[in-house]
Amino acid sequence: MAARGDGAVRRITVLGTGYLGTVHAAWLAQMGFEVLGMDADSAKVSALSRGVLPFYEPGLEPLLRSGLESGRLSFTTSYAEVAAFGDLHFICVGTPQRPGSYRADLSQVHGCLRALGTLLDRPCLVVGKSTVPVGTAEVLAERLSVIARAGLACELAWNPEFLREGRAVQDTMRPDRIVAGVTSARAEAMLREVYAEPIAAGTPFLATDLPTAELAKVAANAFLATKISFINAMAEVCEATNADVTKLSEALGFDPRIGAAALRPGLGFGGGCLPKDIRAFMARAEELGVDQALSFLREVDAINMRRRARIVDQATELACGSLRGQTIGVLGVAFKPDSDDIRDSPALDVAATMHRLGAAVTVYDPAALVNARRTHPELSYAGSALDAVTSANVTLLLTEWQEFRDADPEELGGVVAKRNIVDGRNALDADSWRAAGWTYRALGRPY
Ligand code: UGA
Repeated sequence: MAARGDGAVRRITVLGTGYLGTVHAAWLAQMGFEVLGMDADSAKVSALSRGVLPFYEPGLEPLLRSGLESGRLSFTTSYAEVAAFGDLHFICVGTPQRPGSYRADLSQVHGCLRALGTLLDRPCLVVGKSTVPVGTAEVLAERLSVIARAGLACELAWNPEFLREGRAVQDTMRPDRIVAGVTSARAEAMLREVYAEPIAAGTPFLATDLPTAELAKVAANAFLATKISFINAMAEVCEATNADVTKLSEALGFDPRIGAAALRPGLGFGGGCLPKDIRAFMARAEELGVDQALSFLREVDAINMRRRARIVDQATELACGSLRGQTIGVLGVAFKPDSDDIRDSPALDVAATMHRLGAAVTVYDPAALVNARRTHPELSYAGSALDAVTSANVTLLLTEWQEFRDADPEELGGVVAKRNIVDGRNALDADSWRAAGWTYRALGRPY
């Protein structure tokens, strides 16, 4: 797409170049905007400026490189450059869970707004994309109008992002919906200009007030988490009744009112979003005096965490009652396939627990080994699936990378000590593994 210069938005900045910000910046450059990405981490900025991604995301590196080559995309560590550059500024910094609390740590969002806001001396729109507790945007809008040198000419909007890691590029190019929390027609017009291409392609654009936009994000994640925990609760019932949760999920998913998405039973949800978002939502509801309305999320969280314990139990059962001294092979430690993200990874949690229980655990993951080794140096790491399971008494599939789905039970069977497998993601064909002599276990499946 050619460079743009027709509307009110020509130059855009993206503050925070993690999974969200980097994809957004590269896509905006592809849309023809001049884009300046900013991050406090100079190593990240230097890598991105060379066209090297500091994390794994399929399809993103070519988009990044083409942005750099077009001359429309660059990166900096300087707030002053950002403030001078942009007609519109997207805030994409992280909002992790506060240690020792359910609440979100908003220090990056507040720090970013403060540093940027005080430097803004011309009209612009500051747009929050980070996931924040409802009510945050109104506080930030008030603060911005006070600290920005251009005063009320610097407005705040909230435009939550719904992309999934591993599918971030497709989700950014063709989002299901665009939600824009705005307080003026001018802000809405600017955001419509930014998203002109997906809107023209049919993506619904919903203009809302600020709190509704913030809620649109956390409510969506709460709903997805609830669906996942619902099917995992059914898996517990299936185990008690000798029913098959994968067939049950299929049967439920055909009902259009229910839908098959986010209904895959297994080890449950992890990552940098769903777990911390439902906790921050509960904490916010308590502050607002509506904690009862969200008390079900406590159960959603509890069901999810029980999955991890149950997988360890299944491995222990296959190891004849104790993991102490057992050799265990683990396939997958990323929180989901096609990602190197290990934040709150159920798989890594299970691997670390088995190690604590005395097992010798060797792990392989196609993308997340470097990150896993950094946080869990006590585990052993292998360079391939075959190496990870060599001599294993029990093998566990904990992240359903395609490579593991395609694994040959005969080939793996040739190197393990015992043909015992726990399929933590219901990703394998139980019959063919059993036919190859494996003892197969999965959550919510009969045996
Ligand atoms: C999630 C949401 O899906 C995005 O819409 C949202 O933008 C993002 O969080 C965010 O807040 O930034 P993501 O965490 O990348 O995206 O991944 P999901 O595909 O939702 O998976 C989350 C976890 O749930 C993974 O651990 C996955 O393995 C697990 N999961 C997912 C299941 O156990 N069963 C399912 O059926 C689906």
